[in-house]
Amino acid sequence: MLSARFPLGTPKHTNSVQANTPIKMYGMVNRALKALLCEQFGESTWQQIRSKAGVQEDDFASMKAYDDSITYDLAGAASEVLDTPVDDLLRAFGNYWVKFAGESSYAILLDQAGDTVGEILTGLDEMHTRLTLAFPELRAPAFQVVSDDGKRIMLRYASSRPALAPFVCGLIEGLATRLEVEVHVELVEPKSETNSSDLLSITVSAH
Ligand code: HEM
Repeated sequence: MLSARFPLGTPKHTNSVQANTPIKMYGMVNRALKALLCEQFGESTWQQIRSKAGVQEDDFASMKAYDDSITYDLAGAASEVLDTPVDDLLRAFGNYWVKFAGESSYAILLDQAGDTVGEILTGLDEMHTRLTLAFPELRAPAFQVVSDDGKRIMLRYASSRPALAPFVCGLIEGLATRLEVEVHVELVEPKSETNSSDLLSITVSAH
């Protein structure tokens, strides 16, 4: 029942050596998704979502890599069960991830990442590179700050995974909450066949 899943269904990996190997995601991400759903909607709704997604695991080991399809299927099933667009859920999940990671043993990386949204976004690739010490199979996203005049940042986001731009919008909102500033994040140019990255516009203002 593909229609019950994330709009794109189970993403198939398409580049380079691992063409036939599914992409994997560290369990820390699924743990955070479960924590968000349980906190906001309760354990029984989580069980309903897990069952609709056809996911066997009820617990995820942070340091173990699981097929991406588990995460995508959970997001798709949550969208159905909660009758909420998947993009809205991903955005909320991005917000939540910064809080979750900020309370984890990796919080120090966020603390050291910079004092402004622009600084943190500029150092994100380096931060994920440092994380490969803990997560050796990490398939990290790539970010590029195209311009930053202190008020408006133009950011490119590239990934081997599909459809996660709303997650990134939420992540940046989560960073802003952490830094106690306000942001308005918009996807101005989605990736396409001719363009391998999403372009986001971020307007930053003080509270
Ligand atoms: C200490 C904080 C953070 C930790 C521990 C962390 C860790 C991770 C992990 C484990 C993954 C799963 C990737 C995989 O297993 O292959 C991931 C993915 C991702 N992270 Fe981070 N991350 C952090 C902060 C951030 C921040 C602040 C942003 C952006 C503002 C970000 C953007 C992303 C994105 C977009 C993905 C999805 C993967 C993709 O696009 O292909 N992360 N991160």
